[in-house]
Amino acid sequence: MAKLAVGQMAETKNANDSANPLVVVERHGMVAWLTLNRPEAANALSCALVATLRAELATLAGPPDLIAVVIAAAEGKAFCAGADLKERLAMTLDETRRYLDDLGALLQAIEDFPRPVIAALSGAALGGGLEIALACDLRLADDSASMALSEVRLGIIPGAGGTQRLSRLCGIAVAKELILTGRRIDAATALGLGLVSRVVAKADLRAAVETLCSELSAAGPLALAAAKRAIDHGFGKPMTEALAVERASYESVLTSQDRNEGLRAFAEKRPPHYQGK
Ligand code: COA
Repeated sequence: MAKLAVGQMAETKNANDSANPLVVVERHGMVAWLTLNRPEAANALSCALVATLRAELATLAGPPDLIAVVIAAAEGKAFCAGADLKERLAMTLDETRRYLDDLGALLQAIEDFPRPVIAALSGAALGGGLEIALACDLRLADDSASMALSEVRLGIIPGAGGTQRLSRLCGIAVAKELILTGRRIDAATALGLGLVSRVVAKADLRAAVETLCSELSAAGPLALAAAKRAIDHGFGKPMTEALAVERASYESVLTSQDRNEGLRAFAEKRPPHYQGK
């Protein structure tokens, strides 16, 4: 398989037939960009937006040449303002419960996605918006980014994994301080807490994500999936069990064509051409 340069446009399609889809899907070489496109509502997560994002992600789980997915926001002041609070006002309790299940399933699909998923954070990521980012594998922010799990201020709690994922990512002390106060922090503070891995100038965010994706594109796709699984599934387990998880993940690449290609390419002093098989 010939490698396409990251940034090279191979295909652009809309999430639905409308000229203004809720999620804009673009394939740039080996990377898919999912851009939340509800700037008029600060990309608030309506039922339709959650369903669209989930459907688009499911479609992307197929192509073996995909190396990463980026979740970004259309130009505006917010990455995502969390649950659509206007829609919520008109929902019954059972509809709200179903919504929580659907949002939870979306975030689980991000976490389980068999490639790295990157959050490109610009503007506010609040409530469910930050929970999306927490479910991603890597978080890059620009200096306009701010974030909060502010649910307690609305009389509720983070309901799509935020209490668990923030604790695992940044530790219980940080999670309790941010969740119990609902405090909004800026990008530099998030960097200091390990909530994001890098902060760049607003104009440089896309290029920084593309550079990261270029690095990822040197890897075998199956290796990325196996390494992600080993880290996620082993984390928090006793060491013996965690090492067994790693060993099982290794087994999944041991008999792959990509492994043979990697060894051959090394011996032949050439770049590998991975097929994701
Ligand atoms: N649900 C529904 N609509 C929302 C929304 C949400 N969570 N957040 C923002 N919007 C709407 C606003 O009502 C506004 O719509 P309007 O123009 O019809 O009044 C539009 O999006 C733009 O928001 P606005 O507040 O004018 O933009 P801003 O750039 O000044 O601020 C935010 C953006 C995201 C910082 C701010 O809107 C905000 O704090 N939203 C609430 C976030 C929140 O509490 N989320 C839930 C966490 S649990």
